[in-house]
Amino acid sequence: MSDKRIFLSPPHMEGNELEQVHSVFESNYIAPAGPHIERFERRMAGYTGFAHCVALNSGTAAIHLGLRLLGIRPGDLVIASTLTFIASISPALWLGAEPLFVDCDARTWTMDPDLLEQALGTARAEGRRVGAVVPTDLYGQSADYDRIRAVCGQFDVPVLADSAEALGALYQGRPAGRGACVAAYSFNGNKIVTCSGGGMLATNDADLADHARKLSQQAREQAVHYEHTEIGYNYRMSNVCAAIGLGQIDVLDRRVSRRREIFARYVALLSDVPGISFMPEAHYGQSSRWLTVILLDPEQFAASPEQVRLALEQENIESRPVWKPMHCQPVFAGARHVGGSVAESLFARGLCLPSGTAMDKKDIERVASIIRECAA
Ligand SMILES: Cc1ncc(COP(=O)(O)O)c(C=O)c1O
Repeated sequence: MSDKRIFLSPPHMEGNELEQVHSVFESNYIAPAGPHIERFERRMAGYTGFAHCVALNSGTAAIHLGLRLLGIRPGDLVIASTLTFIASISPALWLGAEPLFVDCDARTWTMDPDLLEQALGTARAEGRRVGAVVPTDLYGQSADYDRIRAVCGQFDVPVLADSAEALGALYQGRPAGRGACVAAYSFNGNKIVTCSGGGMLATNDADLADHARKLSQQAREQAVHYEHTEIGYNYRMSNVCAAIGLGQIDVLDRRVSRRREIFARYVALLSDVPGISFMPEAHYGQSSRWLTVILLDPEQFAASPEQVRLALEQENIESRPVWKPMHCQPVFAGARHVGGSVAESLFARGLCLPSGTAMDKKDIERVASIIRECAA
């Protein structure tokens, strides 16, 4: 077994981040306030094309504040992709809403707009209010926003894009998340760029952004003493994390190119193996290929995804199953869902491969050769 562990998607720092952090120490803004936060927000606004960005301590916080400010109330339905990480929907439950999960389109692995229309139609027929639709940009691939927005427009429901996994991806040439009422990004340690932990709420609505900023700081009113007229959270990003983020945003485009190269290298090394296929790239966009994901066909490939995962683990290599769909999670037993078989099949057949941008040619070859051996 090699001593060098290959992680799924570890942080990748190059140096500029440390310079930014040094400048924080020099200025002593080691606090959840400071100039780097504003700078990072401006950089993210420039990058994503949203007018306003609010830096928070996680992507989950961005989804929570976004849903609260879109007016989610107890008893609402919130519609989310079933193929996602639980943070897409858990904040809706904190607000007292009920989840309704929608399957993905096999061609994109993101929310199927036709099934979404069906879900919204059923909710309307039942007289249920839908507070928001939360499509997930999965593994670096944007959901089909134009179609989703058109459907949501018919029902007058706002879209909150869970773009936690897709910073750097494009939809019709536009940055992932753009076009939604609110988009949430994550800078968790495993993301394409990271602040160790952090998130960003992005919107074109100035009032919503101001309110999010206020709620993220315990909803303190503008007064010298501590005055409160509503209940908030401690969700603000720290200035130290923002400094790391500023260093990382400089290299984001390079990171996207490298992730795409890694994907292409895996394809070159494995696409001739019977029974292996790769996550498709949607015709409407450019995936950041945050993670390279393969599908194994049990009719043609001798090992299951779990056997491949264990074989990689034996060699000190981390890989991960595709997200277990939300409608299959014990915590959501009995939750409503429209479709679900596509997500179930992707979960049964899929495996996420190491995709970190610091991987070298040899690392990729090592991973690919172990997978190849499993086919025999
Ligand atoms: C799809 C999705 N949504 C939300 C999140 C939550 O982001 P965070 O970990 O920054 O809270 C993540 C990742 O962690 C994610 O992958």
